[in-house]
Amino acid sequence: MSGQELWSKVDRYLDDLFVGDDPALDAALEASSAAGLPPIAVAPTQGKLLCLLARLQGAKRILEIGTLGGYSTIWLARALPADGRLITLEAVAKYAEVAKANIARAKLADKVNIKVGQALATLPLLAAEKAGPFDLVFIDADRPNNPAYLEWALQHTRKGSLIVCDNVVRQGQVLDARSEDAGVQGMRRFNELLAAEPRVTATAIQTVGMKGYDGFAVALVTADPST
Ligand code: SAH
Ligand code: DHB
Ligand code: MG
Repeated sequence: MSGQELWSKVDRYLDDLFVGDDPALDAALEASSAAGLPPIAVAPTQGKLLCLLARLQGAKRILEIGTLGGYSTIWLARALPADGRLITLEAVAKYAEVAKANIARAKLADKVNIKVGQALATLPLLAAEKAGPFDLVFIDADRPNNPAYLEWALQHTRKGSLIVCDNVVRQGQVLDARSEDAGVQGMRRFNELLAAEPRVTATAIQTVGMKGYDGFAVALVTADPST
């Protein structure tokens, strides 16, 4: 059995045990696939980890950058209390439409606000409407912009907030300092900035599973953005 086959089998085993059938999430993936969205949502076990992190955090305000079909959105929004809110940013209008239906089917429409547009254009609008500070920011969009998303997140979180970023390893591509791929450079710069950032304490974890070999970073904001 190849590494990938084994990782996928074990992921399905863990998925069966720890997640199992979940009509709203299963329907979200089916509708996303039927609409032709790429199959790049977080894996079920990762989605549940996002949900657990948001619960541990007691998050009431969550920002997600990169909605796709709303799969990770549903996991994160499920962690919210009745008065909690999640804002999620998506560049592709068609993806946002699919996500909207998936989120409504999961009975989370009253907690989730999808904003369509390039995140770098939408983020200043959020700042203007004083949507923050956010208790948790999940970065999972275009890697070239990850350094900019990190900087924005640091300005719109508070001491005790959590910043999570997906796809920080990409099959080990992260080691290629000379890569001419803007995504690889963005991922490397993001990791370097996060590691050197005095306002957070952070780590990054490699992962294998049905989505291949990748990793995610988690940072706890330890100082207020103004300090
Ligand atoms: N978080 C989702 C997966 C997101 S995939 C999940 O796990 O379920 C990345 C998404 O980011 C794609 O839908 C893509 O269209 C979106 N995206 C890429 N560049 C973007 C940008 N500049 N602004 C906003 N969204 C962007
Ligand atoms: C891919 C995976 C992701 O988690 C993502 O956010 C973007 C792309 C991929 O496998 O191509
Ligand atoms: Mg991702």
